[in-house]
Amino acid sequence: MNIIEIENLSHRYNDGTLGIENINLNIRAGSFVAIAGLNGSGKTTLLRHLNGLLLPTEGTVRLDGINVAGNLLQARQFVGMMFQDADSQIVGETVYEDVAFGPENLRLGRRQIQRRVEVALRAVGLTELAHQRPHLLSGGEKRRLAIAGILAMKPRVIIFDEPFSSLDYPGVKLILNHILALHQAGHTILVTTHDLEKIIAHADRLILMHGGKIVRDGIPAEIMCDVEAFGVRKPCSFRLGLEADSWLN
Ligand SMILES: Nc1ncnc2c1ncn2[C@@H]1O[C@H](COP(=O)(O)OP(=O)(O)OP(=O)(O)O)[C@@H](O)[C@H]1O
Ligand SMILES: [Mg+2]
Repeated sequence: MNIIEIENLSHRYNDGTLGIENINLNIRAGSFVAIAGLNGSGKTTLLRHLNGLLLPTEGTVRLDGINVAGNLLQARQFVGMMFQDADSQIVGETVYEDVAFGPENLRLGRRQIQRRVEVALRAVGLTELAHQRPHLLSGGEKRRLAIAGILAMKPRVIIFDEPFSSLDYPGVKLILNHILALHQAGHTILVTTHDLEKIIAHADRLILMHGGKIVRDGIPAEIMCDVEAFGVRKPCSFRLGLEADSWLN
């Protein structure tokens, strides 16, 4: 079953820049999709259409058969996103309030909201910082906060937009562990990166973007021979002719 259906999707920004052009893409429920491409190739622009942060200039995006453009609230519950820029995602005055923001919009009861927030903060190890101001957190802690916000919402599709940039080695492993656990729990996962090394062992599909278009789409091992032509570094294991190596090993 396709949980995401994108048809003839183009987006032109107000200043005239064409961010993405004629994207056609179906994604099956439960997949783990890596989206790679140069800076400015259109990855973020594409993904922002899934939760209605951007609306199509042309084309349609459907989630479970429902058009995003006419059902924004539903789309935001359906699709959780870790933003590329962690600061722009912060909405609460405290860590606790930031995580509570999503469940409050779902109009859950107070007790239920409290429970969801506490469980989410515990899962990412931020319980001790519940009353801290989110802007004072370190970069890695802000990523964990974003994951807590996603956990509290339980969305079916989860997008990670450059989740590893500027993280230290343990930080990468920690975020990767959360991503894999969410995938194992049945969520559909989309991860963008221009550095495939850290996730390729886990992705079941690789999409390459270039100049706002999808230029390759398939099983990672089959696409790998083409990645460098589009400015993406081929992971070491593939260079050496070995099986993809997980960063968790
Ligand atoms: N708000 C905006 N207004 C005008 N043009 C924009 C805007 N946001 C992005 N663009 C342009 O749209 C194109 C695609 O940008 P996008 O951010 O989707 O790329 P990306 O693949 O996510 O890049 P990166 O790897 O740097 O995150 C680029 O040419 C960019 O300059
Ligand atoms: Mg981007």
